[in-house]
Amino acid sequence: MNALSGIDVAAELRTVEKHWTPRVVGRVNDQYVKVAKLLGELVWHAHDDEDEMFLVVSGRLRIQLEGDVEVVLEPGQFHVVPRGVRHNPVADEEVEIVLIETVTTAHTGDVTVAGTVPIEQQLGSTDAG
Ligand code: NI
Repeated sequence: MNALSGIDVAAELRTVEKHWTPRVVGRVNDQYVKVAKLLGELVWHAHDDEDEMFLVVSGRLRIQLEGDVEVVLEPGQFHVVPRGVRHNPVADEEVEIVLIETVTTAHTGDVTVAGTVPIEQQLGSTDAG
């Protein structure tokens, strides 16, 4: 029998050098599975047509939500931000996460900032350093 290895989330995270730069490590139907490291905050945004799942692997992630709501995620916990809901992930310390997002999901949703990472770069098909 041939052995097939699983995707090692911790190992994938070790290859991530830049914060707020998701990398695609798998695909399930129309969803990408991504790993990312976060530190500080990026930008308030919304995804009009896609829900977005944040699963914390290490660290503590605060996701600020519209309406003066905040969800705090510890390792092993996840939250799904519903489509259309404005959100702002905040990492007061370095946080490692797994993201599950529809393939059409734009990194920073309806806004574009200097740190916005296009999907081509998340897929590793361009070397943007
Ligand atoms: Ni988002």
